[in-house]
Amino acid sequence: MNKYFRSWKEFKDYLYADAFRYVEYHGEIHPLKWIKYYLRHPNYRYVFWLRHVQFTYGRNWMILWRMYAYLKLQNLRNKTCIQISPSIKIGKGFYIGHWGSIVINAREIGENVNIIQTCTIGVAYRGDRGGIPTIGNNVYIGSGTRIFGGITIGNNVAIGVNSVVTRDVQDNSVVVGSPAKVISMRGSEGYIYSYIDSNGVKHPRFKN
Ligand SMILES: CC(C)(COP(=O)(O)OP(=O)(O)OC[C@H]1O[C@@H](n2cnc3c(N)ncnc32)[C@H](O)[C@@H]1OP(=O)(O)O)[C@@H](O)C(=O)NCCC(=O)NCCS
Repeated sequence: MNKYFRSWKEFKDYLYADAFRYVEYHGEIHPLKWIKYYLRHPNYRYVFWLRHVQFTYGRNWMILWRMYAYLKLQNLRNKTCIQISPSIKIGKGFYIGHWGSIVINAREIGENVNIIQTCTIGVAYRGDRGGIPTIGNNVYIGSGTRIFGGITIGNNVAIGVNSVVTRDVQDNSVVVGSPAKVISMRGSEGYIYSYIDSNGVKHPRFKN
């Protein structure tokens, strides 16, 4: 059984929601814009092939597809310095803004999460907060952020540039600094845009 995608339809929904984050224009995905974006942006290609690798897990008749997707992912890893463990369940609408030095190992990542360049999410090896993080929905992770340990980042959280997060963060918090402290409860609104929410409602950046 594949824990990432139960069906072909679910897989397609995820691919659509991901693409929507990158090339949404007035609530639609323009196919030509999509092709241009795909060719020019390895950060998006990384997410696209990561989904393919995950879709082929447990579907052994797709072994050739899986091998191809793995090779694509390896190649993109070497080109972009993005390294995300394919074992992480990542919600729809995963957005990597730019690339370079992104390393992610997490228990789970929610829907419509933004991660920017030079971020590390990973393990703390000891103590009460040992383990790997869980990231909620609509979380904005600013560039240069480090998040580690068995902690939970709530929904709609914004994490400022260069923060170091080692403790749980409540829903709707804005945290900055090293160690990160809460500076407001304005959440990630405005920082997460062009997305489809969990009810399937589109939130276009550019309204008609
Ligand atoms: C954390 C963040 C989301 C907060 O946004 P906001 O809620 O609009 O708050 P503001 O930017 O007005 O900042 C509020 C205060 O926190 C300070 N602050 C903001 N981010 C900070 C950071 N990363 N480290 C330290 N202090 C920070 C501001 O200087 C300001 O202090 P002041 O009130 O004394 O002037 C935003 O500052 C941020 O870091 N965004 C990430 C941007 C990013 O990743 N850009 C790269 C794109 S490629």
